[in-house]
Amino acid sequence: MSFTPAPWPRKLRSQEWFGGTSKDAIYHRSWMKNQGLPADLFDGRPVVGICNTWSELTPCNAHLRDLAERVKFGIYEAGGLPVEFPVFSPSESTLRPTAMMYRNLCAMDVEEAVRGKCIDGVVLLAGCDKTTPALLMGAASVDLPAIVVSGGPMLNGHFRGEKVGSGTHLWRFSEAVRAGEMTEAEFVEAEASMSRSPGSCNTMGTASTMASMAEALGMALSGNAAIPAVDSRRRVMAHLTGRRIVDMVKDDLKPSDIMTREAFENAIRTNAAIGGSTNAVIHLLAMAGRVGLDLTLDDWDRCGRDVPTIVNLLPSGQHLMEEFFHAGGLPVVIKRLGEAGLLHKDALTVSGGTLWDEVRDVRNWNEEVILPVERALAKSGGIAVLKGNLAPLGAVLKPSAATPALMKHRGRAVVFEDIDDYKARINDEDLDIDESCVMVLKNCGPRGYPGMAEVGNMGLPPKILRKGITDMVRISDARMSGTAYGTVVLHTSPEAARGGPLAVVRSGDMIELDVEARRLHLDISDEELAARLADWTPRMEAPASGYASLYHDRVMGPETGADFDFLVGCRGSAVGKESH
Ligand code: FES
Repeated sequence: MSFTPAPWPRKLRSQEWFGGTSKDAIYHRSWMKNQGLPADLFDGRPVVGICNTWSELTPCNAHLRDLAERVKFGIYEAGGLPVEFPVFSPSESTLRPTAMMYRNLCAMDVEEAVRGKCIDGVVLLAGCDKTTPALLMGAASVDLPAIVVSGGPMLNGHFRGEKVGSGTHLWRFSEAVRAGEMTEAEFVEAEASMSRSPGSCNTMGTASTMASMAEALGMALSGNAAIPAVDSRRRVMAHLTGRRIVDMVKDDLKPSDIMTREAFENAIRTNAAIGGSTNAVIHLLAMAGRVGLDLTLDDWDRCGRDVPTIVNLLPSGQHLMEEFFHAGGLPVVIKRLGEAGLLHKDALTVSGGTLWDEVRDVRNWNEEVILPVERALAKSGGIAVLKGNLAPLGAVLKPSAATPALMKHRGRAVVFEDIDDYKARINDEDLDIDESCVMVLKNCGPRGYPGMAEVGNMGLPPKILRKGITDMVRISDARMSGTAYGTVVLHTSPEAARGGPLAVVRSGDMIELDVEARRLHLDISDEELAARLADWTPRMEAPASGYASLYHDRVMGPETGADFDFLVGCRGSAVGKESH
């Protein structure tokens, strides 16, 4: 893509607040000066916001105040004025009912803060799963120069001689407890060993995936995704990002210049190559909506289909982000895509150059971590998009995390009406289920849960786990943690709480899954399905007030990114009125 930098010097947006001798200008400057800022910092230089999702209640982002200081070094050094501000920080590990319910709230906060404040550009400091997409969504809707710096992954976990990854080993240990192979005391002992340092989950979970998506989109400096949170080079990345944003402001290099269709196709292919989280599907669709691109589930299927998964990281593979970093990180993967003809090489990045320029000279330092294509974890690693009478608007499955033998399967449905029903019955030794059955979980979509919880990889019944069986076909309208695995059909749409076909599946119905044919079929007649749907009534009442009510009424389906309908699109940076 060719990009022509704006002329410099020129009058910047921040001068609408700080320029001149009007009452308003003095008001704006005077109050800022109570922080001890010298007068010449308001002389027309770039004023750069640092949008920080730091919070002690978002443990994955708890070190971001330190990184913000490093960003400030870079901004000052390049001749800008840094101003840090907080936004709502949705934490995957501590927020109820789901962090996803608050992704859009965070994105609204970011959008309104960036637009309403006296800044010319913004550095987006994110780490935990929802914070990266939320910040990019908000920034895209304003379209001022913006750049991501990630918090970076935690160091590797270790437990009794075994390397353990965030989330993934939690699911494994939890199943081992339920199968009687691990005591509860051992389970508790494992918890501290999984989280040894600041940072985000160290598997290729959603946080690592979204950091990789930001880099593949061109919205972060090359190499940003994999540097461990506590590695000194993470601070260097923050410092360099601070320097770079000042030049981006001068050039007027905006998200709309970078987040193009080609950039999203690069990101989709990158997601397949890294074995990334299914959550990336929803987040990228929502981000594309913010820049006015008509990205669809079909684009996900089309672009990802021929891309092998070559990153050998948990949950699909064996290693963790620390090894990925030492192997060369995401630039090596992007280079491989380019060499295979699977990359839009001239996609623009925050560097002002092309994505290919960033990666063409990198090397792979560990072929056990970034595999040769002949040893790919999955030949077709892209997210499979399934359609059929059970998912008219689509559903997704991650082939690299699934069991090959189950990718074509016909089985008897065992239905759980909601997550409480599942929890109440799953441990019942009399539950009528065997390993050939298809577990169906309803009412866990955006409206149903609410927020579309990560419960789609529902644990198997203990009596099946005791047989040594670790995977069954599972179908729901929920999401799945990026750290999870299994033959799990997710995001089934329309969701049960909106009266989609999933709502009328009954225990005993036969269900057919055929991933190769991209088919998800409920084996009942069209007439029977129509009659059941006509009889359907909602199980839950809509919340009467508060954010939950707004969320229920305005959230869209996962096939368009589960954004709010009124937030789609870019509304620009114009504010209009003065504050006084
Ligand atoms: Fe925050 Fe995994 S829970 S990154």
